[in-house]
Amino acid sequence: MSRVVTLHEFIMDRQADFPYASGELSRLLSDIAIAAKMVSMDVRRAGLMENILGAEGNTNVQGEEQQKLDVIADKQFINMFRAGGEVCGIASEENDDFMAFESEFSRKGKYVVLFDPLDGSSNIDVNVSIGTIFSVFRRKSEIGSPATLEDMMQSGEEQIAAGYVLYGSSTMLVYTTGKGVNGFTLDPMIGEFCLSHPDMKMPENGRIYAMNEGNINICEGGIKEYIENYCQKTLPGAERPYSGRYIGSLVADFHRNLIKGGIYIYPDTTTDPEGKLRLLYECNPLAFIAEQAGGLATTGRERVLSIQPERLHQRIPFFIGSKQMVEEAMSFLK
Ligand code: AHG
Ligand code: MN
Ligand code: MN
Repeated sequence: MSRVVTLHEFIMDRQADFPYASGELSRLLSDIAIAAKMVSMDVRRAGLMENILGAEGNTNVQGEEQQKLDVIADKQFINMFRAGGEVCGIASEENDDFMAFESEFSRKGKYVVLFDPLDGSSNIDVNVSIGTIFSVFRRKSEIGSPATLEDMMQSGEEQIAAGYVLYGSSTMLVYTTGKGVNGFTLDPMIGEFCLSHPDMKMPENGRIYAMNEGNINICEGGIKEYIENYCQKTLPGAERPYSGRYIGSLVADFHRNLIKGGIYIYPDTTTDPEGKLRLLYECNPLAFIAEQAGGLATTGRERVLSIQPERLHQRIPFFIGSKQMVEEAMSFLK
């Protein structure tokens, strides 16, 4: 039997990939893993604890009802970043504005993190997979000063790390620093993330499509045609149409497609004319991972990672998955 490689060992080994790195990014990734373990514990006990399950009673800046776990996860990650010293500021789905950490210690941090503390929150109460998504940038502002909006509004191309944690049938952490994608599974017996999916590659093509098809008649014409006359047709050479799989937690739908091959689309609709998913803490990090694994992520028209953000909670139409499948879907858009 080969020896187990823990996330911590893996991060330390890979530090040599960044010749001028002084270890801060490694420490930041380790902090994320610790916060992820804490949130994972809360998720695993949610059904038993009245203070964990259910609605918080507030709506966030996006007009969505906050769940208790959204708020718990948000605080858990923020506390970890604030105490770590590598991060000078954050932005998250659950906070209207970005946060510049006040202490002198934090102001010396080189990085900012943008994150969705809990993705798929409508699935919390029904015991379906949820996740955390994160994106890391080097700050633009001077070290020692407070973090600025400009630090947060960088294009996805400038990400230096991105990843997600999936609280599924097991808890997994998948991340990239721009040198491929690696996946780690939390071993609950030893409380460590262990390398389980080295050098992940997304199949070039696949047979799974994921979309909220309730929206089919409020999307632009090309989408309906793509779904009905392509995904749902038995095309020449195939035995059957594609399989439809939609969990409603982006991170879980993406993870399945990363492993099996497939496409996820959330186009703009008449009710969400800019799309639903947020560029900075949902689309950018997953787009970075997709490209690193050989997949593709676009708005249906342009590459996600090339977009210059205009607003913190900006939404975009999102097409992500196996390269050939995303290209095929895009060809249906007029
Ligand atoms: P969040 O729970 O962070 O607000 O994100 C929900 C997102 C995403 O996870 C999911 O794929 C999508 O919203 C589901 O939207 P619909 O319910 O409109 O299909
Ligand atoms: Mn989300
Ligand atoms: Mn969320």
